[in-house]
Amino acid sequence: MKTFKPVKEGKVREIYDIGDNLVMVATDRISAFDVILKNQVRRKGAVLTQMSKFWFDYTKAIIPNHMISVDTADMPEFFRSPQFEGRSMLVKKLTMLPIECIVRGYITGSGWKSYQKNGTVCGICLPEGLRECDRLPEPIYTPSTKAEIGDHDENIDFERSVEVLEKQFPGHGADYAATLRDKTIELYRTCADYARSRGIIIADTKFEFGLDEDGRVVLGDEMLTPDSSRFWPVEGYEPGHSQPSFDKQFVRDWLTAHPDSDYRLPDDVIEKTIGKYQEALTMLTGRALS
Ligand SMILES: Nc1ncnc2c1ncn2[C@@H]1O[C@H](COP(=O)(O)OP(=O)(O)O)[C@@H](O)[C@H]1O
Ligand SMILES: [Mg+2]
Repeated sequence: MKTFKPVKEGKVREIYDIGDNLVMVATDRISAFDVILKNQVRRKGAVLTQMSKFWFDYTKAIIPNHMISVDTADMPEFFRSPQFEGRSMLVKKLTMLPIECIVRGYITGSGWKSYQKNGTVCGICLPEGLRECDRLPEPIYTPSTKAEIGDHDENIDFERSVEVLEKQFPGHGADYAATLRDKTIELYRTCADYARSRGIIIADTKFEFGLDEDGRVVLGDEMLTPDSSRFWPVEGYEPGHSQPSFDKQFVRDWLTAHPDSDYRLPDDVIEKTIGKYQEALTMLTGRALS
């Protein structure tokens, strides 16, 4: 049997190159405050992979995406083991576009900090009088460029995204930049409306796009998971202060209360966190993990 080594090991995901395609594997690792915890959150990887799968299916009429299969039977034999089942996605290899397509429907985090200073988020003027975590009148597109390792991503405006793309793909900058912006907003609107009807607010998220072998813009990476988005429960939503995160609230609260824990959590906190991931999947898709 041919064996594979990850070509990339991120904090949470591992990527295998199998030729024309990639296998993206979501592990059960969890990070909080930018640190990988010592504990694993059992089945988190599978929950996140099934969530991405749900959204890729849900939005395929809006834009084609890289997903081929989440069934390990469609992958090389190496992946047909419990270690990979449920958590792996076979995807088309794309030439990734160097823009992180961020969209915000609510004002929170770094956006809220910036708005308090000067009434703008990433150079976009917003109405006066917004409270922390308020819904924005319209979702806003705030792209950034991927920083080299260690640096923070750099926020850019739309014109700069045209330049960045034009440099790498001469003659296509304006066209690609507009497609990214318009598809990002359309995907967010469609999915956030749906999620809200199922009890989850998607406050903001990030998409990544690439080009397929025919030069078409295709949606890649992971899609609308709690790792790439802010999920808040609709129940209890109240602007004016920060909202509890759907998945990591127990973890963050416990870590804050136990500064000497060395990032190792007790079982009951882990069990509650596992429950939250499963609950989010069931709320969104109407189905528990099979
Ligand atoms: N279909 C694809 N083809 C090629 N690269 C992809 C595809 N989908 C996602 N990627 C890239 O795979 C990488 C996933 O890495 P990730 O674990 O998220 O770490 P990071 O975001 O820190 O680079 C990203 O660089 C992303 O742009
Ligand atoms: Mg990433």
